[in-house]
Amino acid sequence: MCGISAVVLKNGTVGPILYDSLKRLEYRGYDSVGEAAINGGGIVVKKDRGKIDEVERTLHISDLTGVIGIGHTRWATHGAPSKENAHPHTDCKGQVAVVHNGIIENFMLLRQELEAVGHEFKSRTDTEVVAHLVEENLKSGMGFVEAVRSAANRLTGAYALAFICSLEPDKVVAVRRESPLVIGTGTDGNYCASDVPAFLSRTKLAIHLEEDEMAVLTADHVKLYKVDTGEEISREPFKVDWSVETALKTGYPHFMLKEIHEQPLSVRNALRTHPIYLELMASAINRAKKVFLLACGTSYHACLAAAYAFSNLAKVEVTPVVASEFIDGYGALVDSDTVVLAVSQSGETIDTLSAVRGAKDRGATVLGISNVMGSTLTRLSDVYIGQNSGPEMGVAATKTFTAQVSILAKLALALAKKREVIPQSQSELLENGFNELPDWISTFLSTQERHVKRIAEKYLDRRSFCFLGRGMSVATALEGRLKLLELSYLPAIAYPAGESKHGFISVVEDGYPVIFVAPKDEVYSKIIGNVMEMKARGAKVIGVIDEEDGEISTLSDEKITLPPRIPSLLTPIVYILPLQLFAYYVAVGKGYDPDFPRNLAKSVTVH
Ligand code: F6R
Repeated sequence: MCGISAVVLKNGTVGPILYDSLKRLEYRGYDSVGEAAINGGGIVVKKDRGKIDEVERTLHISDLTGVIGIGHTRWATHGAPSKENAHPHTDCKGQVAVVHNGIIENFMLLRQELEAVGHEFKSRTDTEVVAHLVEENLKSGMGFVEAVRSAANRLTGAYALAFICSLEPDKVVAVRRESPLVIGTGTDGNYCASDVPAFLSRTKLAIHLEEDEMAVLTADHVKLYKVDTGEEISREPFKVDWSVETALKTGYPHFMLKEIHEQPLSVRNALRTHPIYLELMASAINRAKKVFLLACGTSYHACLAAAYAFSNLAKVEVTPVVASEFIDGYGALVDSDTVVLAVSQSGETIDTLSAVRGAKDRGATVLGISNVMGSTLTRLSDVYIGQNSGPEMGVAATKTFTAQVSILAKLALALAKKREVIPQSQSELLENGFNELPDWISTFLSTQERHVKRIAEKYLDRRSFCFLGRGMSVATALEGRLKLLELSYLPAIAYPAGESKHGFISVVEDGYPVIFVAPKDEVYSKIIGNVMEMKARGAKVIGVIDEEDGEISTLSDEKITLPPRIPSLLTPIVYILPLQLFAYYVAVGKGYDPDFPRNLAKSVTVH
């Protein structure tokens, strides 16, 4: 996730307006920042690595003059945070500048094609190809608008793009697919940005750009077109009645709820991980004699799910270890035949970094998965993958968990294929599952949220909850417990369901709520027995189950149903949603702020 902004004014100067809009978009990314404006016939670019105010202090981006400009605040996906990789990107002649939010999937092919005809690239981003594509189209005689439209028709992936061109210095051209883009229509000029807060201080009239649409903004007009046909579209602006504060949360009362609802997109973005990186990681794991998965908290739960997948799908033994225990417990086993795969949203968790450094010192190969490109973890890793989730503002991890599990599931599949241990039919089932995931998530969130809220409110007075699951769902149960515990301060419990009778069962008394995470997977028949054991002791069973479930549905006091036939490997990505919502609504019901649970920090940088 990055933030883009564009401004076309009747009079005045864009620098301070762009600066202000980027400050409002900082929640979308803050590792690099840049602005470009048309000035004196040419394009002037100011950009660098760093937060907006840091770059302002050194480059004075708000001093940029001119009536037309674009700006960008970055959350790195392709290419580490650096001056070269910061946006805006320009073509060879410096006549076209572009800012981008999203991921261009076919950028490598396009880059090879453009390099073959002489284009020179300055960055390692996926975005730069678009500036060169437009340049190529201009060279062939197209006007600016047509050059952008034709370039957009060649892109695959997700993008919100805004361009300026010194050959037609009166307009901004913007285009979108999947990534958001909103137009603001004002009396003193027109605006476009990733999100409404960017221009809310200038105008309250907005138009949403829909999928595969293009906007041409001049100081006096906004025109919309379809990207494929070029046909003009008309759409009236609507009045935004949100405050800036509400607009930052896109209307949700808390960042956590907003981030829960972002998951169709964040999972889709995670699944865009380029196969090359999966291949590099799969090869390293395949060569290793010992493989450890290291992480803390939620990221550790993602590792638990991954360990199950690596073993069942790829037939590879991996040991998931809580990072703070790694060196003391396993350090003696680590050598140059060892691979450690460390997973950390922030990439800065000190326990994870210490374990990684300890492993590196002993000669291990380090693989990293992190949401923050350029973080210490990515710098320590021999190979790393970015999660592409965008910044997570809520302290409790939600969208970054489902992104981690998605990437790890893809890695397990890549490994299974490499080792030739997976039948074609199973591989196809999973591939289809990856494609369906965003829809499964949207369907659940749009149809079941109120139901989950009602259950949370009904059980608000309970002083403890237990979460049970088997197989893949052990990780889901543990993560559901962590969400409830950290947001509601309740001493919640989670177990592998089979283990519950070895102690936990003594806690159960009449009315004690037990949440069973029970998809219809290969361990389904075993968990039915565990449900019966709890019911026999008076537990209130809350079944988190498949829509087509039979037996557990009958045994449950409350049911939360999920889309049918989700491949078991992918169930944590969907079955965690009701548990995230449940934790959120219990916290809100108790009057706690779910975005800022007490005693917790987003990034734990002390031992
Ligand atoms: C829980 C949560 C924490 C983090 C943990 C590791 O909601 O967010 O448990 O998962 O502190 O953080 P990262 O993934 O940044 O290493």
